[in-house]
Formats: sequence, C-alpha cells, structure tokens
Amino acid sequence: MSVFKENFVLSNGIEIPKIGFGTWQIPNGEDAYQAVRLALKHQYRHIDTAASYQNEQSVGQAIKDSGIAREEIFVTTKLASHIKTYQDALDAFDQTLKDLGLSYVDLYLIHAPWPWNDIGKDCKQGNIEAWKALEVIYQSGRAKAIGVSNFSPSDLENVMNHAKIVPHVNQIAMFIGRDQKETEAFCKKHKILIEAYSPLGTGRILSENRIVEMAKKYQVTPAQLCIRYCLEKHALPLPKSTHESRMIENSHVDFRISADDMKILESI
Ligand code: A2P
Repeated sequence: MSVFKENFVLSNGIEIPKIGFGTWQIPNGEDAYQAVRLALKHQYRHIDTAASYQNEQSVGQAIKDSGIAREEIFVTTKLASHIKTYQDALDAFDQTLKDLGLSYVDLYLIHAPWPWNDIGKDCKQGNIEAWKALEVIYQSGRAKAIGVSNFSPSDLENVMNHAKIVPHVNQIAMFIGRDQKETEAFCKKHKILIEAYSPLGTGRILSENRIVEMAKKYQVTPAQLCIRYCLEKHALPLPKSTHESRMIENSHVDFRISADDMKILESI
C-alpha cells in the first residue's frame, strides 16, 4: 500500500492519514474551494485548516460537495492564537464548526502559544485556560483529538502540568534546514505526534543545491524528497499546493531515504 494511504496512530488510538493537505495562505472562496476539491479528488483524506486562515467556509463546503463520507476525511482546524480564555475558546470552537458546516472535527489545535502579532508574549495562564476548553470539547466528542501548534517543550510542560489529557499532536514548522531537535525529543518522549507544516519551506528550499542533488540521486523531485524527509523523522507532512500536478506529485513518496543521507540532509 502507498504510504500516502497509510495512517499514523495518535496516543488515544485515533488514526490520522500520514500526509495532510495544508491550506495556509489559500484564500477563502473559489481558491480554497477548488484546492480542497482537487486534493480530495486526488485521494488526500486529511485536510488542515485554521480559523485564522479565514478559509474554513470554503474548506467545509468543498468537503461537503465532494460526496465523500464525512468519516473518511480527517479534518484539522485551529483555535486563533489570540484567544486565551476558557469561554472565548469554547465560543470560537462553536463558530468554527458553524463556518466549516461540520458537527465535529477530527483534530483541534491551539494555533500558537502567543498571539501572532505579539510573538513571545507570556500567555502561560491563557494557554492553560484554552487547553481546559479543548479538553471539554474533546470529552464532548466534537473533536476526536486535541493538540497544539508552535509549542516549545516549555510551552508544552506548562499546559501538561495542569492537563488531564496530554496533547495528541504538536504542529510545528519543520523542513530540511529547520529542525527542532528539542521539541522532537520532547514530543517523542510524551507520544505527541509531530506534524510538519511548511515541509517545502514554503517552496523556498526546493532549488537549494544539496536538495536538488539528493533528489536526483533518488530519482524524485525536490518536493518529494522534502516530504519524505519528514516521514523519515516520523513527522506528518502538510504540503500545500494550488496546482493539481503538484498535489499529485506531493502524494507520491514511496521511497526511503537512507540513514546516511538523512544525516546529510539534517546537517543542511
Ligand atoms: P503552489 O501553491 O503555487 O503550487 P509549503 O507546503 O512548505 O508551505 O510550501 C508551499 C509552497 O510550495 C507553495 O508556494 C506551493 O506553490 C509550492 N509547491 C507545492 N508543491 C510543490 C511542488 N511539488 N513543486 C514546486 N513547488 C511546490
């Protein structure tokens, strides 16, 4: 079976397709709608969005119009990063379900430990409150799994010290040249699955000489090498593309990168 059709298993037993389709920076409306329709047509069954991408409506509509059974599609969305109180988080989730037009999501994440317009701000108490809301949402069955995004080990520890449920996922920026070894080690220890957003470095690393050369060696494209790299690190890649041919290309990653070559890539 193609790796594209395989699943990772979260610590609560929920299965999650090994490659997701990222929708960051795809505008709401026709762009996001068509992109998700195409991704589903080409067998992607894992769609990643967020309230702050402002495209949940189009993503949800595309899922609905695809005719594919809801339970066959894994849908992730995220709590906007500035929402750091218990009640606001619950209210935001209600709005997210309305925007998506869904009765549940498969995975709900706190988008970041701080507001995007105030990176690094101390929101320890706010993250504890937001996490309590996610736990309540999880226990109600309206999110099948819960997690965080852009959390460092200390951000995770802060939440876990007050949590009933250990986050199932931490979604972080991960691509060749941008490893987060401490976060990786922490997540591995606590059975938190890492999801890799921007696995292609938002497209910027695809012409890097060493990546191009290594891709040639494996007779794959640089994008395929970058996606496989995440999988070799047991991280779940979320490549994004609005082009049909690239969506297809990004799903064909049935090859292995040798341990020696992984070391070379990790040193970039
Ligand atoms: P486009 O959407 O025009 O296809 P990331 O997933 O790291 O955020 O990277 C997304 C960027 O990489 C987008 O600009 C996307 O462009 C581009 N991209 C996606 N897949 C490929 C590919 N297979 N080859 C080249 N560029 C790609």
